[in-house]
Amino acid sequence: MSNRLTMPNDLRAFWMPFTANRQFKENPRMLVAADGMYYTAADGRKILDGTAGLWCCNAGHNRPKIVEAIQKQAAELDYAPAFQMGHPKAFELANRLVDIAPKGMDHVFFTNSGSESVDTALKIAIAYHRVRGDGARFRLIGRERGYHGVNFGGISVGGIVTNRKHFGTLLTGVDHLPHTHMPAKNAYSKGQPEHGAELADDLLKIATLHDPSTIAAVIVEPVAGSTGVLIPPLGYLQKLRKICDDHGILLIFDEVITGYGRLGAPFAADYFGVTPDMMVTAKGLTNGVIPMGAVLVKKDIHDAFMSAPDGTIELFHGYTYSGSPIASAAGIATLETYKEDGLFERAAELAPYWQDALHSLKGRRHVIDIRNLGLIGGIELEPIAGKPTKRAFAAFLSAYEKGVLIRTTGDIIALSPPLIIEKSHIDTLIGTVGDILDHLD
Ligand SMILES: Cc1ncc(COP(=O)(O)O)c(C=O)c1O
Repeated sequence: MSNRLTMPNDLRAFWMPFTANRQFKENPRMLVAADGMYYTAADGRKILDGTAGLWCCNAGHNRPKIVEAIQKQAAELDYAPAFQMGHPKAFELANRLVDIAPKGMDHVFFTNSGSESVDTALKIAIAYHRVRGDGARFRLIGRERGYHGVNFGGISVGGIVTNRKHFGTLLTGVDHLPHTHMPAKNAYSKGQPEHGAELADDLLKIATLHDPSTIAAVIVEPVAGSTGVLIPPLGYLQKLRKICDDHGILLIFDEVITGYGRLGAPFAADYFGVTPDMMVTAKGLTNGVIPMGAVLVKKDIHDAFMSAPDGTIELFHGYTYSGSPIASAAGIATLETYKEDGLFERAAELAPYWQDALHSLKGRRHVIDIRNLGLIGGIELEPIAGKPTKRAFAAFLSAYEKGVLIRTTGDIIALSPPLIIEKSHIDTLIGTVGDILDHLD
């Protein structure tokens, strides 16, 4: 017997995140179950998941190995203190992450989310320079349109104005690179756009302005997701890496959406052949099932902390749930599921079909650009004059009515399906989006 609650009798108490609360509560979209590629809505309809939840359920829903691991772990060891105590699965998961990480990234700090991973990496960067006796390096550089979660560090280096403007002075000592969206030159690029590598040179300009010896780290999303899918121009990330190397600046990749197979490789670092000094991850780490994040750190950074006198805590940072038993068990089962099902390879194999399907929407009503990489797609719509975001949100509502979950940000439709997607699902997803666009005002 299902104990499923399909519609609560009062929706007022829950203040929903990143949601138009009043609008939602007038006409709620309630999901009550999920399996494979589909959600089930409260009214019993099946909804094709075109977004892997929120870029996180890379192996699809209700994966038996992950479900079983969580159930078993809850019964065996529900919680262990995270400070000055350990439990085996956190160590095991860290080892397995190091096994799939780019060479040299061999230490892992666990968190509970992408936002916490970002702030953890920023803190480690500043503290790293300080423990090396280079405490003048405190500045952080992010990028316009960047999304690095919602904590104070993340919104400070982030560049999405709506996420920043209500929250006061934020961190000091932060500057921003220009974003890489160049529709006049790069519209309808398939994969990485040709133009824009030179935008990375602004890092040198910014570093020179402040003096490079004051810059602790640069953080970028290798592929910017939340701002509406911006693929890095060819050569751009390589240039950032070189400038960082030349000036002793740490490079942090925020791989919260690109990690765990989204591009058809374990991490974007592998896909682009650029190894950062730290990688921020979350979401796909546990297939989105249990909150967990992980910051992967190069040996030199970790080791710099390890010369503190014996018995001292080397890094005064951590969370009650850092590497918690159930999250660790879910993480191990998730990595095993990815491997057993060959999902990273599958994403790479499907990417050309995905690209062709997406770009078949060129010329449809309202479409002004299409962008793709791996199993990520962005479809930019012409905004309604004076009413930004309205057209894309109408597409989202209409897709949901037609049984397809898409995500919109601004006037951009962002797609990121589970890596288990079949070609027939891609046809349905893209076909539905095309039909909707034809009928939108
Ligand atoms: C690139 C990036 N960084 C950080 C985050 C924040 O992750 P969380 O919502 O788990 O805090 C996200 C979430 O979408 C993200 O896309």
